[in-house]
Parts: sequence; C-alpha cells; structure tokens
Amino acid sequence: MKVAKIKTLLKSSKFNQVSAVQGWVKTFRANRFISLNDGSSLENLQCVVDFDSLEESFIKRITSGAALHLEGTLVKSQGSGQTIELQVKKIKIYGDSDPEKYPIQPKKHSLEFLREKAHLRIRTSTFAAVMRVRSALSFAVHKFFQEKGFFYVNTPIITGSDAEGAGEMFRVTSLHPKNPPLDNKGVVDYKKDFFGKETNLTVSGQLEAESYALGLGEVYTFGPTFRAENSNTTRHLAEFWMIEPEMAFYDLKDNMNLAERFIKSVLTDIIKNCFEDLKHLDVRLTKEDQSKPKDERSPMGLIEKINFIIDNDFKRISYTEAYQILRNSKPNKKKKFKFPVNEWGFDLQSEHERYLVEKHFNCPVILFDYPSNIKAFYMRRNDDGKTVRAMDILFPGIGEIVGGSQREERLEVLEKCIKDLNIDVEELWWYLDLRRFGSVPHSGFGLGFERLVQFVTGMNNIRDVIPFPRTPQNAAF
Ligand code: 4AD
Ligand code: MG
Repeated sequence: MKVAKIKTLLKSSKFNQVSAVQGWVKTFRANRFISLNDGSSLENLQCVVDFDSLEESFIKRITSGAALHLEGTLVKSQGSGQTIELQVKKIKIYGDSDPEKYPIQPKKHSLEFLREKAHLRIRTSTFAAVMRVRSALSFAVHKFFQEKGFFYVNTPIITGSDAEGAGEMFRVTSLHPKNPPLDNKGVVDYKKDFFGKETNLTVSGQLEAESYALGLGEVYTFGPTFRAENSNTTRHLAEFWMIEPEMAFYDLKDNMNLAERFIKSVLTDIIKNCFEDLKHLDVRLTKEDQSKPKDERSPMGLIEKINFIIDNDFKRISYTEAYQILRNSKPNKKKKFKFPVNEWGFDLQSEHERYLVEKHFNCPVILFDYPSNIKAFYMRRNDDGKTVRAMDILFPGIGEIVGGSQREERLEVLEKCIKDLNIDVEELWWYLDLRRFGSVPHSGFGLGFERLVQFVTGMNNIRDVIPFPRTPQNAAF
C-alpha cells in the first residue's frame, strides 16, 4: 500500500479511504490513541487502535519515540482537536523505543538540554518547525536568484589564500601532526603537503565569485564557510552557510537595492509557504518573551515582525551620519555603551548596531561608506580618501545580517591597497588579472544564512537553527 504523508492526509477530506502512514510516536494515550508524526507537518495524526484486538505485550511496545507503520481507514474524528483520524487496522513496529531512556519525553524541554541531544532534537515540534523553515528558506534563496537569471556557482571550500582577511582560518593539511617534514630552518615545509602549499577552509567565496561574475554577469554562491574566531556568542558559528551574490556592472546603490529586494522576497515566500510552522514559533517566542523583563520584550510577534520588514523601506544612512547619531545618543552621553563613541573611524560594536536599529530607527538599517581602515582591502575607495563603498545591513535582534560592497575595479588603486595592508600581491595575481582584462564596476554582498533563519524563526541562539552547530569546544555530533 502506498504510504501517505501525514501532511497530505490532514488536508484530505477523502473519508473512508484506506491509508498507510509511518512515523514516530509522540504520545500514546489510554492504550488507544497514538499521536503519530512523520516530520511532514507540525500537526500529528491521531491514530485510534482497537485495544481488544491486540496483545498486551504488543501494546506495551507502543511508546514515545517508537517507529511505526500503520494502516487503516481515514475517518472524521469523534474527538475535539482534530478533524480527521486514522482507524487503525494493522500495526507494524519498525523500531522500539525505551520510554525510560528516550530523552524526548512528551513535555517541554529547555533548548540547552536539547543541544546536548542534537541527534534527537529534530523529533521535537520546535526543531522540526525551525528546520522545515530553514529548508524552505534555502529554496526561496535559489528561487529568487534563478528567477532573476543569476547563475549558481560552487566556489572552493579548500582555499590557498587568506586574502579575504575576514578572520582566523582552519588549516587543511594531510601532513602527520607529530612528524611533519621540516625545511632547513626547522619550520613545517608545506611544499611537501598535499597541495604543495598552505591551505585553509574558506571564509568566503567572494573572490572566486567575482571572477565568475566578470564572465557570467550575475552569479551567486550558497555554501558553507568557516571561521576559527573564538567568538562564543549567540550569533557566531565556526561553520556557517553564506549566500554571496556578485554582479558585474552594479554600483553600491544597485547592490543595496538587490539586497533589500532579496530579503523581502524570501520573507514573503516564507510567510506564504510556512505559515503553520511560523505560527507555532510565534507562540513559542511570545511565551519565552513573557519570562523576560518588560523592557526587553519584543513589541511585535514573530509574524508581525516579518511582515513589518516586508512592508517597510530599510533606512539607508552613511557611517558618518550613524557616527553622529551614536555620539549624541543618550546611552553614549550617559556612558552606557561598553565601547564609548567619541571618534570618527571607530568600528561599530553590536551594542551600537542594535541601538540604531532597535532604539533610534526601529527598522532595518543599511549603513554605507565606512572608514576604509575598518573594512577589507577589496572595497572601492571613495574620492574623499578615507571611506569605502561598503554596506552592512543591520536587523532588529540580530545586528549585522549582510556585509557587502562595491569592489575596487581600478588596478592601480587595488594594488596600492594590497601593498598598504602588507598582503602578499603574489598570492592575488589572479584576482588582479580580473582588473587587467576587461575590468568593470561590480558589487556583491554576503548574507549569513543562519542569521536569516534566526530572524525568521525567532530563535535566540544561532546554535538552534543549524542541525549540528560547530562552535568553540563543540563538535560533538
Ligand atoms: O561581513 P562578512 O565577513 O562578509 C564577507 O565575508 C564578504 N566576503 C561577503 C561578500 O561581500 N561577498 O560576512 C557576511 C555575513 C555577515 O553579515 C553575517 O551575517 C555572516 O556572514 N557571518 C556569520 N554568521 C555566523 N557566524 C559567523 N561567525 C559569521 N561571520 C559572518
Ligand atoms: Mg561584516
């Protein structure tokens, strides 16, 4: 018999139809009612078994977490809480579960507890909802770019250059850790390593994406990136997924327009396609919020917040304007910021970003034209000699969600920036070639996928929006 997805059955009104389902037991009540979930939807299917026809020893094996195959007739439900139920005729137990030891009991568990059980937490309603939303968001990302004629490029994960300077990198080597070959100075000889040079896991696919944009026009990457920063925060992972569009003939304004349209488009898709899951996450967030002090509570519910982003323009201001706002702000004057704002050129900390977004403007903010000394070498210099065509998008509750820029397309200017920063020009020969042969103004940005999932699902900790998070001292699964 063809096995149906519970999601499909719950929507069906074909009563008296014979169906098969398979999934995991959420609860088993009164030796009669199995609440079954197969991951396809938030809602479980109520399955009613006829006690008399089953042996007691068999019934005992139907416990939370057990995997079952059920066949029966779909009928209108007698009970409240669901419209449809399965009158079970046949049960097969695929895998037993030990009710004493199964960690996912039918009760509320803390997110911290569930992080320790990352291999089973997907059986909870909240994680299943988050991961379904994550999957739908990935699809929405591809849909947006594909419909716009962008090409998906797969940039390398193992890279030979640390050109980006975005953070500490993880080394990739096949040398023996205890007995590596040494050169005549006694230093590890990477010429003898697998690739004949030092290699690392990539921090960004941008430089390679630029190469492809200057041939395919408009491209995007969507892949894993790695940073060995020791940042133990609710917004940092050592392994995270980034979406990096890169477009030939785009200036900074085109770049900002695309980023804003892109974010609004994927949010619109999610509201349309994941409404049930979002409703569940909305309720969860509201409950969590109620345990917080009043002034830390969110003024909006989750779905309301997403709609607010879709319906309102992002506020665009230059770094210099932001600096003035922050310098004259109450918390700065009252010395409430951990990092006081008193000099142009300071790097914004998350407390400053959040002040701008959550207190001053109350909407997403795009900051542009940052001081060159706090941004990467490849960003296009402005004529003022001190700022670059960078842009960051700051989101409520998240802080920086997007980082991007117009790229420096002028060979001499780029060469000078590289030299000024003591970056090895030799390493970047191919990147400079892009400015030697048919260089054009071009731009791009990177959006941290998990930060987007955090925003959409309302999960406070980034560890709860990726299946198996990689953070300092943590790669248990
Ligand atoms: O601002 P970042 O470092 O920019 C780049 O890597 C550029 N090469 C992107 C580009 O222009 N193509 O990172 C981009 C975004 C950040 O805004 C943030 O959302 C996310 O990536 N991000 C992280 N997310 C989770 N954990 C981390 N450790 C992250 N570091 C950056
Ligand atoms: Mg950044």
